[in-house]
Amino acid sequence: MTFYRIFFFYIIFWTAVVSPTPILNRGYKPKTNVFNFTIEKVTLAPDGFTRQLSTVNGQYPGPAIEVNKGDRIVMNINNKLGEPTAIHAHGMLQRGTPWFDGVPWMAQCVIPDDYEFTYNFSVSDQVGTHWYHAHETMQYVDGVFGPLIIHDPDDPYKSEYDEEIIVMLNDYHHTNAQILLKQFLTPESQGVEPVPDNGLINGKSNFDCSKAPPGSKCVDNAGLAKFEFVKDKKYRLRIINTSAFSAFFFSIDKHEMEVIEADGLYTKRNKIHRLPINVAQRYSVIVTANQPVDNYIMRSEFQKKCMPDAAASLPIMKAIVHYEGAPDDPEPKDNPWSDSLTECVDLDHKTLQPLKEEKIPESTKKLELTIAFHKNTTGVVRAFLNDSSYIPDINFPTLDKIFKKSPFNDTSANAYIFDKPGEVVDIYLINTDDGEHPFHIHGYQFWVLGTGNGDKVDENDLNTLNPIKRDTATIPATGFFEKEEIMTVLLGVQESDKKVNKKNSV
Ligand SMILES: *[C@@H]1O[C@H](CO)[C@@H](O)[C@H](O)[C@H]1NC(C)=O
Ligand SMILES: *[C@@H]1O[C@H](CO)[C@@H](O)[C@H](O)[C@H]1NC(C)=O
Ligand SMILES: *[C@@H]1O[C@H](CO)[C@@H](O)[C@H](O)[C@H]1NC(C)=O
Ligand SMILES: *[C@@H]1O[C@H](CO)[C@@H](O)[C@H](O)[C@H]1NC(C)=O
Ligand SMILES: *[C@@H]1O[C@H](CO)[C@@H](O)[C@H](O)[C@H]1NC(C)=O
Ligand SMILES: *[C@@H]1O[C@H](CO)[C@@H](O)[C@H](O)[C@H]1NC(C)=O
Repeated sequence: MTFYRIFFFYIIFWTAVVSPTPILNRGYKPKTNVFNFTIEKVTLAPDGFTRQLSTVNGQYPGPAIEVNKGDRIVMNINNKLGEPTAIHAHGMLQRGTPWFDGVPWMAQCVIPDDYEFTYNFSVSDQVGTHWYHAHETMQYVDGVFGPLIIHDPDDPYKSEYDEEIIVMLNDYHHTNAQILLKQFLTPESQGVEPVPDNGLINGKSNFDCSKAPPGSKCVDNAGLAKFEFVKDKKYRLRIINTSAFSAFFFSIDKHEMEVIEADGLYTKRNKIHRLPINVAQRYSVIVTANQPVDNYIMRSEFQKKCMPDAAASLPIMKAIVHYEGAPDDPEPKDNPWSDSLTECVDLDHKTLQPLKEEKIPESTKKLELTIAFHKNTTGVVRAFLNDSSYIPDINFPTLDKIFKKSPFNDTSANAYIFDKPGEVVDIYLINTDDGEHPFHIHGYQFWVLGTGNGDKVDENDLNTLNPIKRDTATIPATGFFEKEEIMTVLLGVQESDKKVNKKNSV
């Protein structure tokens, strides 16, 4: 979907059915956690503007899934949405259960309206901050999403914080996203993305109702999200960007943050003031309540350079950090950090380092793909990978094709097949677009070796020593450097996978 910049990029893996990895954590007996989710439309006003939203159990954002490493997650989905759906758990490796990945026409057929469907998978060897969301049409933009946290009994940072707080950031449209998508996929839109009306922190924000169309049901000052701090306590903030389109700079006035996790993998401590976060990325930061007892602004600023001009008037998204003992103050004074950051790129991967260093294997294959956005033959701007725009085969889902050994003879499947166990693939992505794009691979965490300029990447400039491993990375836009951008992503079998699954490739 070009509308939303999440690049759900599919590489076809010959994924074998395997038993889950044995649990290594001492003394913890894995549990099965059951979540009953009714997907339904309800009328809500998160920022004071009343509209119909698509929700999980009538909540916006949806309820949190919180489990421990090694546990099993059973999601009973009851689809009452009035349209088909499917639910994806972002960041889950789905080893041995690829059919529960939740991508329509890839992993499964859609769940029809008024049907029930059960997702059932274990989170054997992963931890951290993730999220779940509808993967059908624009449903997550209309509200079908929530946090998914895997607690780690062996968390190396456990003694460094007293409490945890989930912080969800998202851009927010007042118009139903299905309508926006229809408008977007016409020649008239010229491929210019719709600009959000607002942004929310944990599903809350204020909105200036004078900007709402006449006749809307809207109240000013609906209220900001409020986070309670106790002086001198340390908090682990799990920050999740569930935007459709917008990237942010996240910060808390007067408080430093130390990054300790990116997309479910621990990082070395990395002290910062402002955190860039792109669609679908997650970070954990430790914040110490070391300021005088008072109220402070938590802020998430839209990175407007990577948005259409109409975004210029978007407000800063705010929430309140309230110290115990301070009087209530709905409008704390502004004290923003002044560090200037480059917009539309990730937190510098040179300073973001994995906690656990590992030897990067030599690559055995190279995959080079050019990303472009341009008109298709009927004049609609679409996304292309090497001149091919993905079209799902709604009669024969991808995974079914793989199991039946059916050929991928249709170029619009954008299928690149790696079926040798232990293959390590260098992926070169060449962005020819003036927009940045979050790049994500389902079921894998890849090493980000670097970004560069021009057609040839200087291999000497790549970080093969201690690159960050994650599941979502930003491919910079052209114009950030002077020529086409190249992001190199090295994807490989992790050691643990090799042990469990000889047949699992890439
Ligand atoms: C989920 O729904 C089933 C069937 O209605 C019920 O037996 C079970 O208690 C529910 N579980 C939870 C965790 O709500
Ligand atoms: C989930 O999968 C496990 C392993 O295959 C199985 O034992 C269990 O019965 C399943 N649970 C449900 C609710 O389908
Ligand atoms: C979420 O990601 C999108 C896409 O890059 C980005 O535009 C937006 O700023 C991100 N949001 C946050 C809070 O970082
Ligand atoms: C994609 O296009 C580039 C440039 O033409 C080419 O070098 C590369 O081999 C193509 N990739 C695939 C997987 O065909
Ligand atoms: C161009 O894209 C539009 C919108 O997705 C689609 O309806 C149309 O069929 C596409 N045209 C071609 C020739 O693929
Ligand atoms: C692809 O292969 C299938 C099965 O062999 C066949 O039915 C179909 O017509 C082929 N499609 C194309 C575009 O060649």
